[in-house]
Amino acid sequence: MCGIIGFKGTSNLNAVDVILHGLKTLEYRGYDSWGIAVLQNSPAKKPSISVLKAVGKIGLFDDLKKKKKLGTSSMGIGHTRWATHGAVTKTNAHPQLTADKSIAVVHNGIVENYQELRSWLEERGYKFSSQTDTEVIPHLFDYYLKKGLPEEEAARKTFLRLKGHYAVVILNKSSQKILAAKNGSPLVAGFNDKDLFVASDVPAFLKYTRKVIFLDDMELVVLNDGISLFDIKSGRRKRRKHDTISWSPEQAKKGNYPHFMIKEIEEQHESIRRAINQDDKKIMEIASQIKNSFGTFFVGCGSSFHAALTASYLFSMIANKHINVVLGSEFPNYISFLKKDSLIIPISQSGETADILDAVRAAKKKKSKIYSIVNVMGSSLMRMSDHTFLMNAGPEICVLSTKSYTSQLVVLTLLAYASAGRLQEGKEELLKAARHVEDYFKPEYGARLKKLASRIAKYHHIFVIGRSLNYPTALEAALKIKEVSYIHAEGFPGGELKHGSIALIEKNTPCFVFAPMDETYHEILSNAMEIKSRGGYIIGVSPKDNKIFDFHIPVPKDHFTSPILNIIPIQILAYHLAVKLGRDPDKPRNLAKSVTVR
Ligand code: G6P
Repeated sequence: MCGIIGFKGTSNLNAVDVILHGLKTLEYRGYDSWGIAVLQNSPAKKPSISVLKAVGKIGLFDDLKKKKKLGTSSMGIGHTRWATHGAVTKTNAHPQLTADKSIAVVHNGIVENYQELRSWLEERGYKFSSQTDTEVIPHLFDYYLKKGLPEEEAARKTFLRLKGHYAVVILNKSSQKILAAKNGSPLVAGFNDKDLFVASDVPAFLKYTRKVIFLDDMELVVLNDGISLFDIKSGRRKRRKHDTISWSPEQAKKGNYPHFMIKEIEEQHESIRRAINQDDKKIMEIASQIKNSFGTFFVGCGSSFHAALTASYLFSMIANKHINVVLGSEFPNYISFLKKDSLIIPISQSGETADILDAVRAAKKKKSKIYSIVNVMGSSLMRMSDHTFLMNAGPEICVLSTKSYTSQLVVLTLLAYASAGRLQEGKEELLKAARHVEDYFKPEYGARLKKLASRIAKYHHIFVIGRSLNYPTALEAALKIKEVSYIHAEGFPGGELKHGSIALIEKNTPCFVFAPMDETYHEILSNAMEIKSRGGYIIGVSPKDNKIFDFHIPVPKDHFTSPILNIIPIQILAYHLAVKLGRDPDKPRNLAKSVTVR
């Protein structure tokens, strides 16, 4: 995981501000420690690299006071960390530097052969100060520079020796250039008339430009007078046209909201409509590929997996069609079923989840077709797929998936309807549901959920049940609650809780029950009764109140769109639980938004 950024400018922007702003935006990728290195190159003094590192999230007052020490600069690099190799300490935080502080490096990914490289470098007199795998990179680059190789060649040699997945940005004091490369981890360059950027993700520099160049694996990019691109394997120069990003900088800002989580939850009244108003032709094209495939596999991780699981019910109920749903990390176990005409539909907000990319690599070996559903334009998944459907949810900064989850559900519902030859009917159903979404953001509704959050915040276990279409909703609801509140929450199909887990129900254990007015209504109420009889506190998420419910969360009456309409109140509730318990809703502990490790 980790977020990285590099900047070289000729405008009056201060690199320190650009990098700190970028890192704040990239914090969703990891936030256990951070660091920045800038070049001091005022004409009066000899150039030098200044470094600031700290443990914890960016923005603590003491750290920012220290920022002043960095002064102003026109170029530098930064890193926000999700530790893999080496404990969370200031020493292990990036940038990692050579002993003479002439080369600074930030890195996202894992150098798998770092032990071997470290011994090799130690034999040649290099001293290591951290436990990180990253530290081999500045030393290796230094080694090749000292051998007299031109800078780009030294960088190329360095990257050719690294095994594993990485994105790396180097600041070289002597040449006053920024060099960056990628292999398996994301990296994008950006530019305007005066300034050059490179980062893990576009929002890190979206404030300054929308012109971007997405990098491919094994490419080296050099920021100097402009952006130069090289193929790492051959050393040859490459040319690439830039893309222009449609996201606006405002979309990636918190505005007047206290947290991105609640902002993104509320944005659903627009993002759901954007997802519905898709290009019909593209939807029909995927539907026809599903129809003609020898087996369709929807693949996802986390919330995206829950969306895929919902799709399996939608396809069965609406289109009478069987689809396979597989967790990204489990997909390699299924590849023996794949044929040339199998269709893989990876679903991913970020398009960078390592398990999903591995699944796609495995499927490509079997020559199966890849049609991905992605939110982030230019992501690795998009670049690896034969075709991509962009769900258009806009930037999602909070680590929790909220608006991207409902956009995924919208696209999958459209696909199920399209597969049944009833796309227009599907659109109308979804638009009807979208009209209700605004009601969730009325103050009275929020106040009701806030009251519920205060009531249940003291419990250690929360259960969620749902049947059929709302079984995946139960899984997603439990995930939302646990990841942001740290209260243990588990989702079950209504019929399953009694096969063991009901033993955990005690007096007043909160239990959410999804009871839409569909064919599951009576059975799920019986399941709720089984829990109530053992002392459980029943929170009914249903269009209609019922005397079994101890607390009622009203939702609109709807059928195939109930997974969309039922999850939003739980997202709001999870947010209030986090605030009540003093958790950071945007950056829950131990998590990252893009999970780029296996
Ligand atoms: C992480 C995030 C989840 C997300 C999952 C899959 O675990 O914290 O919110 O659902 O990755 O991410 P993707 O970008 O592939 O949808």
